[in-house]
Amino acid sequence: MIPVAPSVVWKSNINGQQKESLIPSNAILLDVLRDKAGCLGVKRGCDMGTCGCCTVMIDGVPRLSCLTMAQDGAGKEIITVEGLSDGAHLAPIQQCFGEHGGSQCGFCTPGFLVASQALLNENSNPSEQEIACAIEGNLCRCTGYQQIIDSIKAAAEIHRGEKESTPPVSDAHPDPHPTGPDEPTMPPGHAR
Ligand code: FES
Ligand code: FES
Repeated sequence: MIPVAPSVVWKSNINGQQKESLIPSNAILLDVLRDKAGCLGVKRGCDMGTCGCCTVMIDGVPRLSCLTMAQDGAGKEIITVEGLSDGAHLAPIQQCFGEHGGSQCGFCTPGFLVASQALLNENSNPSEQEIACAIEGNLCRCTGYQQIIDSIKAAAEIHRGEKESTPPVSDAHPDPHPTGPDEPTMPPGHAR
């Protein structure tokens, strides 16, 4: 018989809000973010650390949530793609991905956005090589990467104050997507 991991109370700050959940002590952060915190923008691509789709920031550092134990994120500040925008108003990096074709099918986009934002938080004037290093762990099958690099460069201009961001076309409104934790996203057997 496979022993069941004991449950623990997990607390963390996710996108500026304190969250508390009961999770198995061996839960993976990706499962907890999707199944307990309702952060469905955190994508499960490979589930083995090779695609970057599940990238989140933990205390400002981009990390692969599929390779991170939830316990390692306890008590930390976690930013997912949902935390980049201000309600309905996109962050500059999100706007620029839209304007420069950095997102096509979109599955890889949340991971790229988080990795790019982490870079821009540290360095608002990255060279093309620094951009390439920051996104080297993220795979995209659609764009050919140049549009992604162009998007990050354009967002960097906004961060440096050299370019205006596009004004919002509407007032902020609540996220229309399901926010769990009662929205199952995975087959049984993952974090509960
Ligand atoms: S799902 Fe985490 S790296 Fe692919
Ligand atoms: S936009 Fe489709 S995989 Fe990147």
